[in-house]
Amino acid sequence: MTENPQAQAAGNAGNTDDESSEALIAVHWREEGYYPPPPKFTGQANASDPAIISQFGEENFPECFRAYADLLTWDKYWHTTLDTSNAPFWKWFVGGELNACYNCVDRHLGEHKNKAALIWVPEPEAESHQAITYQELYRRVNEFAALLRDFCGLKAGDRVTFHMPMVPELPIAMLAAARLGIIHSQVFGGFSGAACGHRIADSGSHVLVTMDSYYRSGDLMDHKVKADEAVETAAKEGQQVDKILVWRRYPGQYGSKTPMVEGRDFFVDEVLAEYRGATVAPVSMPAEAPLFLMYTSGTTGRPKGCQHSTGGYLSYVTGTSKYYQDIHPDDTYWCMADIGWITGHSYIVYGPLSLGTTSVIYEGTPNYPDAGRPWRIAQQLGVNIFHTSPTAIRMLRKVGPDEPAKYDHHFKHMTTVGEPIEPEVWRWYYETVGKGEAVIVDTWWQTETGGFLCTTLPGVHPMKPGSAGPPALGIYPVILDENGEEVPKGSGKAGNICIRNPWPGVFETIWGQPERFVQTYYAKYNKDADSKDWHDWPYFAGDGALHAADGYYRILGRVDDVINVAGHRLGTKELESAALTVEEVAEAAAVPVVDDIRGRAVEMYVSLKPGVTASKDIEAKVTTAIETDIGKIARPKNIWIVPDMPKTRSGKIMRRVIAATSNFSDTGDITTLANPEVVEKIRQQVQGAKAARGQVPRELTETEAEELKSFGSE
Ligand code: PRX
Repeated sequence: MTENPQAQAAGNAGNTDDESSEALIAVHWREEGYYPPPPKFTGQANASDPAIISQFGEENFPECFRAYADLLTWDKYWHTTLDTSNAPFWKWFVGGELNACYNCVDRHLGEHKNKAALIWVPEPEAESHQAITYQELYRRVNEFAALLRDFCGLKAGDRVTFHMPMVPELPIAMLAAARLGIIHSQVFGGFSGAACGHRIADSGSHVLVTMDSYYRSGDLMDHKVKADEAVETAAKEGQQVDKILVWRRYPGQYGSKTPMVEGRDFFVDEVLAEYRGATVAPVSMPAEAPLFLMYTSGTTGRPKGCQHSTGGYLSYVTGTSKYYQDIHPDDTYWCMADIGWITGHSYIVYGPLSLGTTSVIYEGTPNYPDAGRPWRIAQQLGVNIFHTSPTAIRMLRKVGPDEPAKYDHHFKHMTTVGEPIEPEVWRWYYETVGKGEAVIVDTWWQTETGGFLCTTLPGVHPMKPGSAGPPALGIYPVILDENGEEVPKGSGKAGNICIRNPWPGVFETIWGQPERFVQTYYAKYNKDADSKDWHDWPYFAGDGALHAADGYYRILGRVDDVINVAGHRLGTKELESAALTVEEVAEAAAVPVVDDIRGRAVEMYVSLKPGVTASKDIEAKVTTAIETDIGKIARPKNIWIVPDMPKTRSGKIMRRVIAATSNFSDTGDITTLANPEVVEKIRQQVQGAKAARGQVPRELTETEAEELKSFGSE
C-alpha cells in the first residue's frame, strides 16, 4: 500500500458498444477511504508482520504453501509439493498421507479435550444451547463412523449424500465420513427433495443421511418428506438408494408425517445404540484423495460436483482460517452461513476445528424471533469472531438498525462473504455491529476455490469498504480482457478476474465431468492444451472485477449465466428447465433484478404454447415447478407471461434486454434483434405492473448497470 487511493480515483474510460467486448467495461466508482485495523486487533493478530506477504511471493511458489501444510498432522510427509504433470488437474503434497477427521478432532484431545469444539444454538430460545467438547465430539464421530462402516457397509472412496439442516449431527456425520475416507456430499437443507435426488444420482450415493425435522422461523419443518422425493428422483435417474438414515431432532420422537419405509429407513438414534463406545481408527488417505463434493450451479442445467481434496483443501482452509479469520484456540467463532454451502464446510467445520477452536452453529434464521437474536447469541456465548453475508447484514440493518447497540457483545474480527457489499452497508457493519472495535475482512472466493482468494490480511492491510482487497497469500490474480490481454491496474476498466497459479484449496475436478472442468475454468485463456507448465493455465473465475491502483480488487459480479441470490448461485439454465416442465410453457428466460436485501432476485419470463391463454394459474405452476426442482431459495420475485421473447436473428433469447426491462434500465441497442417491436410491448407490460405493485427499483448504481449489460452474453 503505497499510493493514496483518493488521488487515483479510477478513470472515466469510454464505453464500447461492441458486444463482443462487453466484459471490458469502464467503471467509475467513487474511491472509498481507508480504515486502519484497530491496534488492539493488530497486537494479538496471527499475522501482523507484512514480511509474510513476500514469503508467499511468486519466487517462493509453490514451496511457500508448506507453511500451510505444516499446520496439519501428517501420517506420512509428502515428497512433491505441486505436481503439474497432468495439467490443469493439479496435485498438491503428493506422497503425503493424512486423515482430515484426525486433524480436526483426535489431535486436540491432548490439550483441549474438555473445551467446546461446537456450540449448537437451537432456534427456539426456550431450548438451551449445547456445548460439545472435543472429547464428546470424538466419541460421537467414532460411533457414527462405526455405523457408516458396519451398518451401511461404506468404505474409503464411496460417496454418501447428506441432506441435513444446521444441527451438530451434520459436522459429526461429515467428520465420521472423513475418518473413513468416504466422500461426503452435503446438499443444502433448504434445497428441494428433487434437487437432492439429482445430486444423489450424480454422485452415485447409495446412502442418504437426513433428519426428520428442524426449526426455521418458528416452524418445525417436516424434512424427511424431502428424502422420499429425493430417492424417487434418484431412482428415475438410475440410482438406487438402499438406506436412509434419519436423525431425529428430538431423539425418540418422530417429527415428520412421512411414514418410515421398512428395511430402507432407519432412525439413527436407534441404530447408534449398537455402536455405543465404538472406536474406529482414522484411515490414512493420500493427500489428493477426495474429501467431499460440493455441488454448485453453472451455465448448464447439470449441477457441478466440485471435488475437493484431503491434503490440499485442509491445508488451505487451516492456513486461511489462521491468518484471515485470525482464529486462536481460545476464540469463540461464529459463522452464520449454512454448512450446506462451501463457506460452512471451510469456515465452520474444517478450518476452525483443525485449529482447535470453538465453532458456533445456529439452527435458525438470524431475525427469529427478532432482529436482536444474533447479538444476544454473541453476548451470551462470548463470540469474538463473527462471519456472515451482505444479505444478512442488509436484512438486520433494515429490520433492527439499533439492535446491536443494546447488547454487550464485542467482536475483534468480522467477515463478509458471498456478494459485493455496498459501502454504506459496510459502514453500518463496522460502526454499529462491530462498534468500531472489530477489523473486517471482505473475502472473495467460490465453491470451486475451497478458500479465500482476495481479502485484506486483517492485521496488516487497511480496510476499504466495498473492495475485497489484495490477493490472499500465494494467490496471483490477473484481470484479462476477452482477448487475453491484461487489463492494467488503475486503468478503471473491468475485465475477467483470473488466478494465474494453482493453490492447494482449488478443486480437483468436476465429479464425473473432467472435460467440463477444463472447458469451464481453464480453456478460455489456455494457449497450449499440452502444456505441463502452470503458467499456461490461468483459472477463469467467471467474475468481473476491477484492479485499483492500490492493488485492491473490487468484484462486480458474475459474467456468466449465474444469478447470485443472497450469496447463493442459481444457474439460469436450471431455473429455465424447471419452468419448461410446465406443460403450457413454450420458452423461459431467467434474469436477475436488483434487490435491496438479497442483492439479486430472480424474475422469470415465459411465453406460452400456441392457443394457451395466460393465467394466474400458469404463473403459480411455474413457481411451484421451480420450488420443487430447486427449492424455495429460487422462488422468482415475479413471473411475466409475455407474448414473445426478444431474440437475435439466430434465435437466441436476449436475456440482457429482458434484464434491463425488469430493472428499469437502458436496454441498449435493439435494432439488430429479429423482433425489436416486442421489447416495447414487454416494457409496458412489466414496468406498468411493477409500478402498480410498488416495485419500481431505485436507480441502479453504475456497476450494477454494467453488470446487467453483460448478463447473458455467453
Ligand atoms: O460472484 C462471486 C460472489 O459469489 C460467487 C461464488 O459463489 P459461491 O460459489 O456460492 O461461493 C460463495 C462463498 C464463497 C463469486 O463468483 N462472491 C463471493 N464472495 C464475494 C463475491 N462477490 C463480491 N464480493 C465477495 N466478497
